[in-house]
Amino acid sequence: MAETFTRKHLLGIRELSAGEIGHLLDTAESFRDVSRREIKKVPALRGRTVINLFFEPSTRTRTSFEIAAKRLSADAVNISVATSSVTKGETLLDTARNLEAMAPDCIVIRHSMAGAPHHLARICNAPIVNAGDGAHEHPTQALLDALTIREHKGRIEGLKIAIIGDILHSRVARSNIYLLVKLGATVKVAGPGTLVPAEFSELVDQGLRVEKRIEDAIEGADVVMILRIQRERQDAAFFPSMREYAVHYGLHPQHLERTAPQSIIMHPGPINRGIELSSEIADGSRSLILDQVTNGLAVRMAVLYLLAHSPMAAEKSEQNKEGKRQRKGNKG
Ligand code: CP
Repeated sequence: MAETFTRKHLLGIRELSAGEIGHLLDTAESFRDVSRREIKKVPALRGRTVINLFFEPSTRTRTSFEIAAKRLSADAVNISVATSSVTKGETLLDTARNLEAMAPDCIVIRHSMAGAPHHLARICNAPIVNAGDGAHEHPTQALLDALTIREHKGRIEGLKIAIIGDILHSRVARSNIYLLVKLGATVKVAGPGTLVPAEFSELVDQGLRVEKRIEDAIEGADVVMILRIQRERQDAAFFPSMREYAVHYGLHPQHLERTAPQSIIMHPGPINRGIELSSEIADGSRSLILDQVTNGLAVRMAVLYLLAHSPMAAEKSEQNKEGKRQRKGNKG
C-alpha cells in the first residue's frame, strides 16, 4: 500500500493513486507530533522558501501553510492579491514569473479560476501546491479530512460517509469524493437538485450514491461532512431561501439518531451557523471541526516537506542556479 509520493506538484486528488494518498497521510501522521512539542520546530526545510500566493480570502488554509512552513524552518512569504501588483493589472503569469525569479522552493496558490495552479505548474520550475482552485479541487482539505477520519475511525475503507450541501460549487466535495471512493469508502451525497452535478454520475459505479434527501444520505453514516454554501460562486438562485435550505439540508440534533452510533461530524469551515448546521452540532461532542484544522497543519507540513525537500526539488533548484550562472556568463 505505502507507495512513495514522487510528484513534482500537488494539483489535485483525482490523479493520485491510493498508495500515494496513503504515503501523504502516513507522512502527515509523522509530523503531527511536532506541533505537540514545547519547541514546535524541525530543521527539515531550513534554507528553503515557500511563497503563499492567495487570490481569494482564506483563514485556515493560508495560516496553516504559513505555520507549516515555519515549523519546518522554511522562510514563508505571504502574498495577497489586495496588496500585490495584480491590482495594477499584472497577469497571473507575470506575477508567477516574477516570483519564480526569486528562486522559491515551493509556491502555494489559491485562485478563483479552476486550473490556475495547473497553469502555473506548466510555466514554473518550483513545485506548485493547489490550495483551492475555483470549484475544482482542494487537495490538502481532502487529505486533512482523511487524516481526521483515520485518526477517529482507524480506517477509511468500508466506512459510510455522507456529504451534504452545495456539491456543485464545492472543491472540498470534489477532492473528498475522489479520495474517499479511491480508499474504499461508500459515499452518499445529498443537496438541492440544482447543486448536485451530473459529472459525479461517473463515480456511481465506484461507490458514490446521489440522494435527494439528507435523511437518506445520513442513514447509518459513520461520517457526516457538511459543506459550506458557496454564496460567492452562486450567480443564480439555486434554492428559494436560506431559511428553506436550513430546513431541508441543515444538520440538526434530531438527525444524529439516524447516523451510526459513534458517527462523527465534519465541516471544512468557515461555517454558517444555523444554516448548514446548528450550533448544538457544531459545538457538540461529535464535531471534529477544530480537529480538522489541527490535522491541516500536519498535512501541509507533509506536503511541503515532500515537495520542497525531495531530491527532485533539490536537483531542480541546482538546475535553476546553474541556468542562471550560464545566462550570467553569456551576458558577461
Ligand atoms: N477550509 C478552508 O479552505 O478554509 P479557508 O477558506 O479559511 O482557507
